[in-house]
This record gives sequence, structure tokens and C-alpha cells, in this order.
Amino acid sequence: MIVACIQSKGGVGKSTSAVNLSHALVMAGKKTLVIDLDSQGSTSLSFGIPRKELAPSIADVLLEDHPIESAIRTTSIDGLHLVTGNMALANFDVSVANKDGRTDLLKDGIKSISQKYDYIILDCPPSLGLLPINALIACDSYLVPTMPHYLAVEGMVNLLEAIERVKGGLSAQCTLLGILLTLVDSRSTATKEIIDMIRDQFKDAVFNTEIRQNIRLAEAPSFGKTIFQHDWSSTGAQAYQALAKEVMDRTGTTKPKTKVKHEQARKKR
Ligand SMILES: Nc1ncnc2c1ncn2[C@@H]1O[C@H](COP(=O)(O)OP(=O)(O)OP(=O)(O)O)[C@@H](O)[C@H]1O
Ligand SMILES: [Mg+2]
Repeated sequence: MIVACIQSKGGVGKSTSAVNLSHALVMAGKKTLVIDLDSQGSTSLSFGIPRKELAPSIADVLLEDHPIESAIRTTSIDGLHLVTGNMALANFDVSVANKDGRTDLLKDGIKSISQKYDYIILDCPPSLGLLPINALIACDSYLVPTMPHYLAVEGMVNLLEAIERVKGGLSAQCTLLGILLTLVDSRSTATKEIIDMIRDQFKDAVFNTEIRQNIRLAEAPSFGKTIFQHDWSSTGAQAYQALAKEVMDRTGTTKPKTKVKHEQARKKR
């Protein structure tokens, strides 16, 4: 299952969500690969990779035809692998402007390994440029983090429409996994009103889980740690664990516990 973390707006928690959702999925027993598609390399740095060691990165796979296997790294977390992003991605759009199949580079690049993972999480840069477009072509579904701020609702409509246009033009098959409310200031009445508006408008598309502002989430990357390594008991850790459960439910990979129980009960009878 390939999930892209996508949002043209910057600083809304895409990378924070990619890192911590991935670790939460691994804790639930899912083998996971994170691919950092951002030249800033925030996701890679959050796993404790020093900036000078970000190469080889996904840029080598997309621009130099290196096999993805040569760019996959293990992390300090068992079952969680990473392909870094680095500055070599900065002029991606210009580099591939005249290349045939420029929107399929990621899809083709990860084909050989996609079956080896339960989840592949793609962290996109804040744009709807060619890297996020490659992510939309490569993914099964996309998760859209958004901050519940003034104009967020309208911004969301525009973004979702833009994604649909891109998908239509390129025959991408992916679907919206969900809208994730991030950096929520739970004490603000204005925020609560905006969240109500977003939930009213986008209904079930919005994840039940909300990611509140949590200083521990902001601190963790500076230690090269995920929230679960930094502060297991924080509200941020609890929220990303709840999100992972919702993601597994929505993507149909949650173990069918109730069904098994039902089956056992039937056998006993
Ligand atoms: N729930 C949260 N509580 C507190 N700080 C947060 C939270 N989520 C993210 N942050 C912080 O907010 C900043 C932006 O987050 P992040 O880098 O995840 O956003 P992004 O959407 O990936 O940004 P960009 O568009 O630049 O890639 C970071 O400093 C991060 O540590
Ligand atoms: Mg980011």
C-alpha cells in the first residue's frame, strides 16, 4: 500500500506525519518504507541521518537511473526503512522537463520493491510540482495534512480540485485516504469552529484523529528521533498511534480480530 503525504501549503506537518505515522505502522507490525521526496530532507534528518550523509538519495533513483535497492537504508527502528531526499532534488522539475515519462519516474523506480513492504509512505515537498505529481502517479492513496486556519477550507477545495485535475490528465488511479487536521490548537474557540466547518464540509474524508500542537513533536527531529523514541507518553505519540489505526482500517490492513472471534465462537457452538 503506497500512501503519499501531499499538501501544496508548507509547514503543515507533512514530514512530521510521514515520520511518526511510519513508526506507528511499524509498531503495529507493518513493514514500512519512507521515501523523502523533499530537497530539504526534513524526514531524513528526523531519522537522525546527518545532512552530509543524505546521498545516495531518491534523486539518484529518479535522475540517474540507480536501482532503488542501492538507496534503501535501515533506520534505528526495526522494520522501518528509508530512502533519503537531498539537495539533488532541488531542480528536479527543470532536470526532467524534456524527459519522456517524467511523471512516471517514481512509479517505475519503486516497482521492484513495492511488494516487499506493507506500506510505503511518500513525503512530498510543499508544491504540486513534478515530484508530488510523480507521487500521485505512484501511490494508491494520498493523505492531506491541513492546519485548521482561516481560509483552510477554501484552500482545501482548491487543492483537492487541483489534485483531481492532475489525476484526470494523467489517468492516475489513486484515491483520497483522508484529510488530517494537524497543529491543532485545542484551546482556541476559533480553531474549534473551523474544525467544525471542515468536518461539516468534508465529512468522512476527515480522519477522526486530530494532531494537536505538541512541543514534543517539534523537539523530536532535533534529536533525530521519532515521537515514540523521544516521548512515548506524549499526546503526539498517542495521536499518531490512533492515526495509524485509522489508516490501517481505511486501507483494509487491520487484522480482522472481530471476524476471528466470531469464527471461534461459531466453532465452539
Ligand atoms: N503537532 C505539532 N506540534 C508542534 N509542532 C509541530 C507539529 N507538527 C509539526 N510541527 C513542527 O512544525 C514545523 C513544520 O512541520 P513539518 O516539517 O512536518 O511540516 P511540512 O508540511 O513537512 O513542512 P514543509 O512544507 O516545509 O515540508 C516543524 O518544525 C515541526 O517540528
Ligand atoms: Mg516537509
